Amino acid sequence: MAKQFWKGSTLLAPVPAALVTCGTMEEPNVLTIGWTGIVCTRPPMTYISVRPERYSHDIIKNSGEFVINLTTSAMCRETDFCGVKSGKDTDKLAVCGFHTVPAHEVAPPLIEECPLSLECRVTESKLLGSHTMFLAEIVGIDADEKFIDSKGKLNLQQCGLMAFAHGEYFALGRKLGDFGFSVRKKKKHRKPPQKKS
Ligand SMILES: Cc1cc2nc3c(=O)[nH]c(=O)nc-3n(C[C@H](O)[C@H](O)[C@H](O)COP(=O)(O)O)c2cc1C
Repeated sequence: MAKQFWKGSTLLAPVPAALVTCGTMEEPNVLTIGWTGIVCTRPPMTYISVRPERYSHDIIKNSGEFVINLTTSAMCRETDFCGVKSGKDTDKLAVCGFHTVPAHEVAPPLIEECPLSLECRVTESKLLGSHTMFLAEIVGIDADEKFIDSKGKLNLQQCGLMAFAHGEYFALGRKLGDFGFSVRKKKKHRKPPQKKS
C-alpha cells in the first residue's frame, strides 16, 4: 500500500469541537475550540490553545478561568457560528439561543444546552507560536441529569456527541465496545435448572 508523506501539520482527528465559555455570568463570551484534550488524570488536567488575536484570549489570560462545554450534533450549526463570529461585536450566546447557568467553582457560566461542562482553572500559560496554550486543572464537572441513570452512571452515548475532523463535523456513531472489552472474560451462560420428572 502506497502512503504519501506530508510535512508536519495539525492532522490529528477526530478532536472535539467544544464551546468554551469565559468571562462572567454578567459578561460572558463563547468561542469554539478544537485544540483541547486531557493531559493528566490525577490531578485532572486539560488544555486549550487559543490564538492571541481572539477576543476570548485576554479574557482567559486575565481571569485564569474557562469552561469547556461538550457539543452535540443538534448544536452543530451554533458551534460553527461561535467559531466564525467574534464576541467583540456579537453576543453569540444570545444569537444561538443558549442559556447560561452559574458554574460552581469558576466565574464563567456553563451552557445549559450542553450535556457536560468541565470547569477549568488555568495553572500555566505558554505562547507556543500561533497559539497560547492554557494548561488548566479541571476543578468541577457539571453533567446533565438526563444522561445519568439510576445507578449514577453517565451515559454519554445517549446525547449524540459531535466531533471535528480535518475541517468537517461528524456525529459520533454507534457504540463499538467499552474500555477493556477486548480482554474481558465472557460471562458463562448457565443452563436453567432442569425440572425433575
Ligand atoms: C471547529 C472550530 C474549531 C476552532 N478551534 C480553535 C482553537 O482551537 N483555537 C482558536 O484559537 N480558535 C479556534 N477556532 C476559531 C475561533 O473559535 C474563532 O476565531 C472565534 O470567532 C473566536 O471568538 P472570540 O473572538 O469571540 O474569542 C475554531 C473554530 C472552529 C469553527
